[in-house]
Amino acid sequence: MTLAAEIGSMEMLSFLVGFLGLTCWVLRSVVGRCYGRHASARFGLTLPGKLAWAVQELPCLLVPLYVVTCTPAQRLSHWPNLILLAIFIIHYLQRSLIFPFLIRGGKPVPILVFLSAFMFCTLNGYLQSQYLSNYAVYSENWVKDPRFITGCAMWLLGMLINIYSDNILRNLRKPGETGYKIPRGGLFEYVTAANFSGEVIEWYGYALASWSFEGIAFALFTTCVLSARAQQHHRWYLEKFEDYPKFRKVIIPFLY
Ligand SMILES: NC(=O)c1ccc[n+]([C@@H]2O[C@H](COP(=O)([O-])OP(=O)(O)OC[C@H]3O[C@@H](n4cnc5c(N)ncnc54)[C@H](OP(=O)(O)O)[C@@H]3O)[C@@H](O)[C@H]2O)c1
Repeated sequence: MTLAAEIGSMEMLSFLVGFLGLTCWVLRSVVGRCYGRHASARFGLTLPGKLAWAVQELPCLLVPLYVVTCTPAQRLSHWPNLILLAIFIIHYLQRSLIFPFLIRGGKPVPILVFLSAFMFCTLNGYLQSQYLSNYAVYSENWVKDPRFITGCAMWLLGMLINIYSDNILRNLRKPGETGYKIPRGGLFEYVTAANFSGEVIEWYGYALASWSFEGIAFALFTTCVLSARAQQHHRWYLEKFEDYPKFRKVIIPFLY
């Protein structure tokens, strides 16, 4: 395959990731129920939450490991490529090796949802790592470009918001509890789904820093999946808690 054709296939995979995001958004809006508090018996067999989260996110670590060790990965001798791949891997080290083991009383995950997440992580792990390791060409000055610096800062801010907010949710439950309470503090004072706000900021930061179809496709996917879920959470809190703060928006402070 020529280089142009190979780059073309990376772009096709990016369109696929964006398309999958839009499909998830439509399905979530139509079918509604999915996992966690919104899970439905219609989804059939389930897996324990910790196991499902650890395994389904793992391809975003293992596939990049394969790409880095078993392909030429010649672009990783350049700082921008190396830093961007490190950003992606750091997120998934947290998501698949730390986050699952901290979950308190998390609901089981339907096998269908688990398999979809596993396949998506395999596809996206391949797309991002293959693009950064073997195709993306940046000038050496890219690390000083305002887009790269702003994008990396956004990624870091988003990741801190995401981890801090997931921690607030986790601490709403004492060990052994499985119920729900109104989250307070941090960005939760402004939005229902502060952990999702952080995740969305993270991936737009990555998209800006990588200035690529591949990055923007993943940010779009995350926006579609998490905005639909945040909307479900928001409606659920309003129905469940009479004293739920009316001022809170869904996912973007003051706006939505
Ligand atoms: N990049 C992507 O496309 C993507 C997609 C999905 C998720 N994620 C990320 O994965 C992480 C987890 O996602 P999620 O959908 O599971 O988040 P979530 O619905 O907010 O739940 C996170 C955890 O907190 C618990 N929890 C939530 N609200 C609670 C409350 N009011 N009281 C007590 N416990 C509460 C949940 O328990 P239960 O399980 O019992 O509800 C679950 O264990 C997030 O950081 C998210 O950003 C990323």
